[in-house]
Formats: sequence, C-alpha cells, structure tokens
Amino acid sequence: MKSVIISGAAAALAMMLCQTGTALAGPTETVPVAISGQVTSAAEGPMEGVVVTARQDGSIVSVSVTTDAKGRYAFPDTRLEPGHYTLKIRAAGYDLAAPVTTDVVGEAASTVDLRLVPTKDLAAQLTDGEWMMSISGTDNQKAALLNCTSCHTLERTVLSTHNADEWMQVVHRMMGYGAVSQPIKPQRMLDKARAGTPQQYRELADYLATINLSSTDKWTYPLKTLPRPTGDSTRVIVTEYALPRKTIEPHDILRDKDGNVWYTDFGELFISKFNPKTLKLTEYPLKDFKSGAPVGELSLQFDKKGLLWFDMMYQGAIGTLDPKTGEIKYYPLPPKWNDNRVQLNFVGDRYDVDGKVWTKSVGTDDVFRLDLATGHWEKFHPTDALPPGKYGIYQVISDAHNNLWMAEFHNGYLGKIDAKTLKVTWYAPPTPHARLRRMEVEANGDIVVTEYRGNKVAVFDPKTARFTEYPLPPYTYPYRANFDKDGNIWASTMSTDRVVRINPKTGRTDQYLMPSDTNMRTVYVDNSTTPPSFWVGSNHDHALVKVEPLD
Ligand code: HEC
Repeated sequence: MKSVIISGAAAALAMMLCQTGTALAGPTETVPVAISGQVTSAAEGPMEGVVVTARQDGSIVSVSVTTDAKGRYAFPDTRLEPGHYTLKIRAAGYDLAAPVTTDVVGEAASTVDLRLVPTKDLAAQLTDGEWMMSISGTDNQKAALLNCTSCHTLERTVLSTHNADEWMQVVHRMMGYGAVSQPIKPQRMLDKARAGTPQQYRELADYLATINLSSTDKWTYPLKTLPRPTGDSTRVIVTEYALPRKTIEPHDILRDKDGNVWYTDFGELFISKFNPKTLKLTEYPLKDFKSGAPVGELSLQFDKKGLLWFDMMYQGAIGTLDPKTGEIKYYPLPPKWNDNRVQLNFVGDRYDVDGKVWTKSVGTDDVFRLDLATGHWEKFHPTDALPPGKYGIYQVISDAHNNLWMAEFHNGYLGKIDAKTLKVTWYAPPTPHARLRRMEVEANGDIVVTEYRGNKVAVFDPKTARFTEYPLPPYTYPYRANFDKDGNIWASTMSTDRVVRINPKTGRTDQYLMPSDTNMRTVYVDNSTTPPSFWVGSNHDHALVKVEPLD
C-alpha cells in the first residue's frame, strides 16, 4: 500500500502515532492510512469519542479506533490488509445513518465520512454501568445487582415483566446455575442446596419488580449514559480476535514470551493457545472428572518453572499444562472431600519454596494444601478466624514465601495464612463492604487487590499492614487490576466496557471504550510493548481483545 499524505487533525493523529516509536505508522508527515474520515451528527456536529470498527469480510479480526476532538478517525494501513471492509460505530444514543462498507486497496487511502442519527433503541445500547446509573433504588439495593452481571447483562432483568413473586423463583433458578453459565449454555450445579430457597430472595425480588416492566410500559426512570471518551482516552487502537464458538468464554488470559495468548475457557473443558500473528487456535482438551457437573476453568498462571497452572472449578481438580510439550497433569481433590459442593478456584503455586500448592473451594470456603511429593492434602477453614457472619473467599494467591493471601468477597477482608505457622490473619480495608476480588503480588511483596463493590484498587503493604486505595471512575466495579512497568494501574470491568488506566502519581485516568460488550475478567498487562498494552478476554462475546494506547 502506498503512503498517503493527509492533513489537519488526522495528520496530527498520525504524527502522534509515529512519535510513539511503535510500528503504528511510517516516518515524518507521510502517513500511511488505510481508511480515515470524520464522524458527525445533526445534534453535535463533529463527534469526539466515537469508536469506529473495521472488519474485513470473512475475517476474525476487527480493528477499532476512536475519533478525536474534531470527529476524525484514521486506521493506520499497517492494521488493515487490502480487502472489502464493513464499518460500525459505538456511541451511546446513536446509530450509523446507513450501513457502510469500503475497500482498502493497494493504491490509495479511502476517505469515509460517517453520519450518525439518533438511535431508536437506546436501552439496547446501555452498559450494565449505565443501567446501574439509571435505575431507581438505594445503593444497597443496587449493589445486589452486582451478583447479576457475570453470566449476562442487566438488559434481561430490566426488560422483564416478572412481578415480585415470580422474581423469587427466577432469582432462585439463577442462583442454581454454575458461575460458568451463560444463557446459551446454562449449567446447573450438582449441589441443589447452594441456591438456597426462593423465600430468601423476597427483598431482592420486591426491588427487582420496581425496576423492570412488570407494572409499567416504560421505565419510571430516565435512561442515563456515561460520557463518551475525550482527549487522551481516544488515543488507542483496539483489536478483537473472534473465537470460533459462541460457547467459548475466555476468562484468565496471558501472553507468553513468544507472543502466544493463552486462556482458560470458562464454559468448556479446554485450555487454549491463540497465535495473534497466524490466527491459529490450539485447544488442549481437559478430562471430564464429574459427569453432570458444570464445566469450565477460571484461573491461569505461569509458575517459576514455566508450567501453566489452572483450576477446574466444579470438576474438583487443579492441574498443570506444559506449554512446551502440551502434557497435562491433574491433581484431583481426594474423594473424602470431593463431593458435589466442590468448586475449586485458584492455585497458590509457589511450591518452589516448600513443595506445596494451595487451592480453595467456593461454596464451603475450605482452603486446601497439597504436598506435591507425597500427594498428601490438608484442609483449612480460615474464615473461622473472622467474627461470626456470612463470608466467601474469592481469590487465593501465594506470596514469595508461599504464604497464602485470600480476598474475601462477601464483605471485604484481606487474609493471610502463614505457610509455616498456619496462623490466620485478616485485615479490613478502609472502605466498608468493599468486596475484595482479584489480587496480584508485587515484587516488593505488596498485594494489589480490587474492591469490586468499593470501586477502588487497593494496595496493601504487609510490612505496615496499611492499605492505599485508588478510586476508579464511577460504576467501574473492577474485576482485576495490575501495575504496568511505568507504574500505571490497569483495571478491567464487567460493567462499563471501559478499560481503565490510572497514573497513581498524577491521577491521570484514561478510559478506553471497547467496541462491543466486553464482560472483562482478567487483565494481562503486556510490558514488552512501549507504552505497555493490555489483553483481556471478552467473556460474553467469545473474543480476545488487545488494547494499545498510543501514549
Ligand atoms: C450463574 C449465572 C447467572 C447469574 C449469576 C444470573 N443469571 Fe440470569 N440467567 C442465567 C441463564 C443461564 C439464563 C437463561 C436460562 C434461564 O432463563 O433459566 C438466565 C436468564 C435470565 C433472565 C431471563 C429469563 C427469565 O426467566 O426472565 C432474567 C430476567 C435473569 N436471568 C435475571 C437475573 C437476575 C436478576 C440475576 C441476579 C439476581 C441473574 N439473572 C443472575 C444465568 C445467570
């Protein structure tokens, strides 16, 4: 493809692409773009913060850029092969006036200006964060819905017509599904008692009947939307790689040193490897240990030897995959504890220290430790050390001494089991009811933990037993967060479709709007690029997503 000289804001954007030092664009003002143009609407004129996506016919790859303050967008030609493309946009409140396709040819850049018109169906465009903004109710009432956004969006809930009595039954049915479920693949838990009784959902049911369409034709509250990205938040390229089946739910995701992207399939029995260069997907099938139990894996991490550790949730085992040979080893929980209630999640993998790995079961809050040499399992119940109450441990993770750190999800405590003395200590973050979710252990021993309900990222210093909290944009409800090599915090969200990057020193906060519903779980910060980039799995939309900020 030839280089094309462009002018004005697009040239400025392209110039900035060059200055990043990445392979985004060629040198000087001669800027190779494949497709560029301006996005306008009658109401706003040129529109900033509109995500424009280009997908070649038949391709699994979609590339997205966001319009600048003058409404201009530009796709660098290094990102689009010659071919026939369909363009789509994301801007809450708007649709494209008409379908748009264009050709990328070897000779010239295409100029495609896009005209947007008000959407006829705003409700269909709202993210869960925007529903949370819009619905009536107290903070406590709304917080109950944070348990409804993992398997599907809130759209089903607000569009429904159930009255309170019906809601008790519906919520009871929902709570009987394994966390690995989605509407196209419901998976019932074997443990029927876990869902409780319909009666226990009376209060939630009463509330749900006030926010749906059970007694009105239209919602009694106005639909509110988050502002579109502005300024630095528009300077990003997002690449989505569609996975071949709708039932694939990429949960934890990481990149190896060869550039392969590995992920756990939250809805199926596979650990998978995707090569973004060749687009080849390799799926490593896992054993079905418990017939009829939900299938799917959650956590994935490299240990010090380079083995990948994963959990098998309701199948009652943890395991390793050797990425060099593809060999898989399983460590099922011993039969005396491996009943229908078991849901093993997360592995504490610093067995290089003492030969032992940790894991835990969700429903019962049992923590287990396995001696890899002897095959001996131990069982602990660390929430006994908390005041009497209802608790639930989310992640567990090993530190450099193979002590186990635990994020308590029901209320929000951070806990530690000392590997040598087995002493259990719990710490409470400053924010009440923070609901702690995923953790990372930093090189200096600090624990980075997300406050799901608290809407913050907390950093805990074990030496001083102090938390430092970093607030996130409203309604982010972070799943997982991590620091990059530049000291920025990256956070994923199941709520707003916006990847968040915060500079804790300056407070600068960028929010990169994803092109589509991207129920994000894990975050993988790729420090091999400058600036660092970010990978995330789209749990509801069977895609792997790469987010590359331009600065
Ligand atoms: C563990 C996964 C999971 C969670 C959590 C979950 N759902 Fe569902 N939901 C499903 C599945 C699977 C379906 C489709 C099958 C069905 O309808 O039973 C569904 C369907 C629905 C429907 C449409 C069907 C109907 O009967 O109207 C509504 C409404 C709904 N869910 C509301 C909720 C609410 C409210 C919550 C939170 C209290 C929630 N869901 C939490 C898995 C889940």
